[in-house]
Amino acid sequence: MEIHIVEDVEAGARVVADVFERTLRAAEGSGAVLGLATGSSPVPAYAELIRRHREEGLSFAGARAFLLDEYVGLPAGHAQSYHRFIRENLTSHLDIADDDVVSPDGTAADPVAEAAAYDARIREAGGVDLQILGIGSNGHIAFNEPGSSLASRTRVVGLTRSTIEDNARYFDTAADVPVRALSQGLGTILEARRIVLTATGSSKAAAVAQLAEGAISARWPATVLQMHPAVTVVVDEAAASQLELKDYYRYARCLESESPVAVRG
Ligand code: PGA
Repeated sequence: MEIHIVEDVEAGARVVADVFERTLRAAEGSGAVLGLATGSSPVPAYAELIRRHREEGLSFAGARAFLLDEYVGLPAGHAQSYHRFIRENLTSHLDIADDDVVSPDGTAADPVAEAAAYDARIREAGGVDLQILGIGSNGHIAFNEPGSSLASRTRVVGLTRSTIEDNARYFDTAADVPVRALSQGLGTILEARRIVLTATGSSKAAAVAQLAEGAISARWPATVLQMHPAVTVVVDEAAASQLELKDYYRYARCLESESPVAVRG
């Protein structure tokens, strides 16, 4: 795991955007497959990508994108649907074709079949080249709540009370937050070729410490990322505050800046 402890949100956004830019340039011609996340954590990085697209000509032409999850019961056009969130916060500002931005259908008559079809669509696209992730204060990634199988596939999940409370800020009341979602599984996410996870603030500190240094366990689903060979974690000081090996991570990044060889913890 490559852990970057950054000074502020803007510096973190630049590190995440750099990972996207490298992926897009490497896939030029064939079109990158991007795994996109909703929530507040990726938004600064999305703003930086939009800026690079507008001001520096970074192109997303030919890229395809798959969202991590969608609330069950919310139609695509609903103000709080993830289908809509990703368009408002990223893709409608880029040169990516709208039809190539795909999310699970939260209104599918058969959500179980929809989940299986979603995994198949990702596979048919050749798999995800780069997946961006946030992390819940309870250690979830996508909507894989504590107790999720570490090998899980896209499926219908029930949201925990803490996730519903965390997400209530987007709705009028907590009672309006859907209680189920279609979510990529941990096994699905692990198939992405590269992963970048970003988190800020002290409310994420315990989850970030578990992610990087805890025992791999369904109790903290993000710990499964320790099994992936190409994960970049971008955190501010507050989110990094419970990491025991902070000094080592800083040292490893310094070594990299002296020579362009990545030093992985
Ligand atoms: P946040 O959510 O980015 O809005 O903090 C992250 C998550 O719950 O996965």
